[in-house]
Amino acid sequence: MKIYIKTYGCQMNERDSESAAALLAEAGHTIVYTEEEADAVILNTCSVREQAEIKAIGKLGIMKRLLYEKPHMIFGIMGCMAQSRGEELLQKIPHLDFAVGTDNIHALPEIFEDLAKERAKIRKDARFGADTPGIDAHRVEEADKPYCAFISISRGCNRFCSYCIVPYVRGRERCREADSIVKEAEMLAEKGVVEIMLLGQNVAAYGMGDVLPPIPDDESPFADLLERISAIEGIRRIRFTSPHPAFFNKKLIEMIARLPKVCKNIHLPMQSGSDRILKEMNRPYNSAQYYKIVEDLRSLVPHINFSTDIIVGFPTETEEDFNATHALMHKVGFDNAFIFKYSPRKGTKSSKMTDDVPQAEKERRNQVLLAELEETNKRKNAALVGETFELLVEGPSKRNAERWSGRTDTFKTVVFPKPENIKEGDFIHVKVTSATSMTLYGEVVEK
Ligand code: 5AD
Ligand code: SF4
Repeated sequence: MKIYIKTYGCQMNERDSESAAALLAEAGHTIVYTEEEADAVILNTCSVREQAEIKAIGKLGIMKRLLYEKPHMIFGIMGCMAQSRGEELLQKIPHLDFAVGTDNIHALPEIFEDLAKERAKIRKDARFGADTPGIDAHRVEEADKPYCAFISISRGCNRFCSYCIVPYVRGRERCREADSIVKEAEMLAEKGVVEIMLLGQNVAAYGMGDVLPPIPDDESPFADLLERISAIEGIRRIRFTSPHPAFFNKKLIEMIARLPKVCKNIHLPMQSGSDRILKEMNRPYNSAQYYKIVEDLRSLVPHINFSTDIIVGFPTETEEDFNATHALMHKVGFDNAFIFKYSPRKGTKSSKMTDDVPQAEKERRNQVLLAELEETNKRKNAALVGETFELLVEGPSKRNAERWSGRTDTFKTVVFPKPENIKEGDFIHVKVTSATSMTLYGEVVEK
């Protein structure tokens, strides 16, 4: 059967879609990339904000038309919304055939077999350990970027930030054995992967069990894991997302600085710069502690840069709270920031608070922070003109196939005229010749 998987939400979901595709391909199905070609569509859904749910449900509605031409078409959902609202949606949406929960991805081949016999399936209640079957399934050769692969190191989350639905949907944190993660990385390296992205809801807490912040400074199983993966020949770059600031300790900071393969772009979700709001969010750090991580890393690695997640319009957020967020953002000077308007999620602690910041005000605060980000990028990118970087080549740039692009280890995109004899996944050196707030432009140079 020809199956199209469409992914919403975070990189955890992207990784799960990839596992699903690998398992389905192994079972003899063909993965396709448009709904028109497909006999079956699976939406891998997200629940983190209401908008993400509305989008996926809307898409299911629109796709119903495909049934006129292909009455045999199968529709399924997987991911967070399938886990939390699977039964309800199967009842409400008659053309939805199945829902498979976040820990049951490996059931997909069997579901497709069963669907030939009867419709409407739901599999969501299994809570396997971290080494959920199929968690290490990859399709390196067919992947969009065959030189880069994601590895899940843990599933679920123990943090219970007051706004977040993840611990309810994906369950408590389950960490994979380090040996099994390293084995997966070695297998990927053998297949030509040069960049690994380690994924988890809170990677910095990897292997720490139930320990509560403040955490000790001298132990970090995640730092040890970085060291082991760094030792794999063939792996040239290691990225990870997302680390909770309260789990960043001295050992991890020093390890990041010491290992050249660990990319010097750190995604450090700040959420807010107001100490009062951070408390309301149940984020056990304050703005000074957050900034200290940035300072400590910068003092060891001057060129390191940071990206972040910020929520605007959390219940009770005043102008003063927002200004504190804006100020911290300015002080850090993020190279990238994902700014979200607060969205109450049923079952979370903050959903019991009144969502009292008007939508228009959330929008205004969002715009102010986006403008701040653009200013920082303009300033920081201009300062990079004249510098030479090693790039991992990603391929033709979207707008002009004569121009190719690549990423620095700080995750900056550089566009350059395509030289001869170059392919995706190569490493080259490029000197930056000009810059906008979004992109750097450069020319290829000998090292
Ligand atoms: N409303 C808005 N943003 C949210 N996030 C998580 N939950 C919510 C919510 N209820 C954001 C956080 C998180 C990112 C993945 O999504 O910033 O880091
Ligand atoms: Fe990812 Fe969270 Fe969205 Fe699930 S709810 S897809 S874990 S962002």
